[in-house]
Amino acid sequence: MENQQKAIGLFDSGMGGLSVMREIRAFLPHEDLLFVADSGHVPYGPKSPEYVQQRSLAIARFLLEYDVKAIVIACNTATAAAAALLRSRFQVPIIGMEPAVKPAAAATRSGVVGVLATSGTLSSTRFAALLERFGSGITVVTQPAPGLVERVEAGDLTGPETRRLAEEYTAPLLAAGADTLVLGSTHFPHLRPLLSEMLGPDIQLIDTGAAVARHLRHVLEERQLLRQQTDEGLARFWTSGNPIEAQEIVSRLWLHPVQVEPLPEPYN
Ligand code: SIN
Repeated sequence: MENQQKAIGLFDSGMGGLSVMREIRAFLPHEDLLFVADSGHVPYGPKSPEYVQQRSLAIARFLLEYDVKAIVIACNTATAAAAALLRSRFQVPIIGMEPAVKPAAAATRSGVVGVLATSGTLSSTRFAALLERFGSGITVVTQPAPGLVERVEAGDLTGPETRRLAEEYTAPLLAAGADTLVLGSTHFPHLRPLLSEMLGPDIQLIDTGAAVARHLRHVLEERQLLRQQTDEGLARFWTSGNPIEAQEIVSRLWLHPVQVEPLPEPYN
């Protein structure tokens, strides 16, 4: 197959990464996209880096069976744990996530930025390096958010339990004076409507989905890998969890009805 014709592979611990895939679809409408939700192993946040690396390797191998031309790790925790490993093992470009500390540092007026992310992301050396690079001159307050990823996985974006957790985790950041919140998990952009309504217009919410889509386009352009056809690209979905349950929630988060296939052995 011509390299330009090949699909782009994406994966996440679950379905949160569909927030990134939506940005990619908007920015690169002609590309074929293959998405793996590792719902049988979600959440990654509290798991060891070694566990997340093993899952990321398995899923990258699965995507490479489909001869993808690039892999997007649509998960902050997996990027922190496994991006370097995947880059050392595979030839295709590996695009990762990065909590939006840099744009948040530019946007804050109070000088205080809050970061909502998993403990896996917040304790990673990658995040420490990000703070070192872009966090000087501002105060960065971090907040792990256990349970919130699971609410998104359950498709509960606005219910009372989701609201309770969102209030619990944003309160300390606001109390510290943050006027800008970094949504440091790809699950959290799905909660934007709830967070905006709860926090009001004075609190800015920033994520990196659109920046990752732009970066991906740049990488593909540089390598002359952009698909030339002008028809809409295909989208295919797999899960290591229950495909019937996943189908309903993926369809809701992807904003179109879709089929979700079971991730086959030995990758699941
Ligand atoms: C998780 O699975 O715990 C969330 C993944 C992320 O960091 O986006």
